[in-house]
Amino acid sequence: MEDKLREDFPIDWEEDHFVSRREFLRFMTLASGGLAVGSAALAVWSRKTNDSIAFDAMRICRVDEVNAGSARGFTYPRPTDLCILIKDTEGEWKAYSRRCTHLSCPVSYEPDKHRLYCPCHNGAFSIEDGRVLQGPPPHPLPKILIETRGEEIWAVGVAKAEHLS
Ligand code: FES
Repeated sequence: MEDKLREDFPIDWEEDHFVSRREFLRFMTLASGGLAVGSAALAVWSRKTNDSIAFDAMRICRVDEVNAGSARGFTYPRPTDLCILIKDTEGEWKAYSRRCTHLSCPVSYEPDKHRLYCPCHNGAFSIEDGRVLQGPPPHPLPKILIETRGEEIWAVGVAKAEHLS
């Protein structure tokens, strides 16, 4: 009977791997240190002020690549953060997160209505300041800070949303 049991459950204690308390504590110390280093790196990468968060500047496009009354998409600060750059009908530049604050559908520029529109639930935002004009979105669109550098438009940060102040 014992032989049959060993055959079915061949446990060899010599080769079995135990995690000692010391090894576990060492792992936890390293993991905590890694998190601390990651947080410090993030703090250096993003420089917060009272009303904005500066990220590394990123070129979006040349000024002559967008006509008045049109827009183009870009990502900032991460490759997964969808944004929209607008040159309004007056020729002024604006940029916002492209994710609707309701359920994250991408918004589109409607120059004739001077707004950003979300087709998912009929939401709309002002292109002046990103505030909600209609529909279920609970918050304004986050504004992307941009600069004109010579003949190029650059993203330089993200304005802190008022509802998070
Ligand atoms: S996802 Fe935009 S209004 Fe619902």
